[in-house]
Amino acid sequence: MTAAPFTSTDFRHALSQFATGVTVVTVERAPGQAYGMTANSLTSVSLEPLLVLICVDQRSHLLPLIKQKRVFAINVLKENQQAFSVYFAQADQTPEAEAKLGIQYRWTQARVPVLSDTIAQILCRVVASYIAGDHTIFLGEVQSAELSPGEPLLFFRSHYRQLAPPR
Ligand SMILES: Cc1cc2nc3c(=O)[nH]c(=O)nc-3n(C[C@H](O)[C@H](O)[C@H](O)COP(=O)(O)O)c2cc1C
Repeated sequence: MTAAPFTSTDFRHALSQFATGVTVVTVERAPGQAYGMTANSLTSVSLEPLLVLICVDQRSHLLPLIKQKRVFAINVLKENQQAFSVYFAQADQTPEAEAKLGIQYRWTQARVPVLSDTIAQILCRVVASYIAGDHTIFLGEVQSAELSPGEPLLFFRSHYRQLAPPR
């Protein structure tokens, strides 16, 4: 008897056992207009130089924007920002919808939109990209980061969670 092949569904199920935080990657899409994508593929890569990576779906609207702008922000969501995660996981993004959700941006000198009131706002410059199957890996050199107090939103087994108090 041969073992059943390991499928993409099996892969997703296995990887969903790995709990992560939730970020929104933001970039300028037109002068003064932001575009964001929910991402939990953030990985710390190197201290010298200061590198992180994110993996972006080839079909995502974010991909051509990052390729073009070469600068982006990684915004780490707070536990009460699940609605932000759901919103930025779809492409229909309008100032009206954002006003309803209370989404606000601060703009950096390099014209990167940063999500206000998130627990970390990490500014990156693209230094390399690699096509990896149906995603592109962007290696970002971290330029600066701003931190705010608060607890993180978590993602585990395809559901949002919150940190339990320390034992
Ligand atoms: C918790 C969570 C994490 C996600 N992480 C990633 C990710 O790391 N990379 C990615 O390409 N898409 C990720 N997605 C999916 C994207 O947010 C988005 O739905 C998809 O790429 C479609 O992008 P578009 O709306 O810009 O076309 C994630 C979605 C959720 C809800």
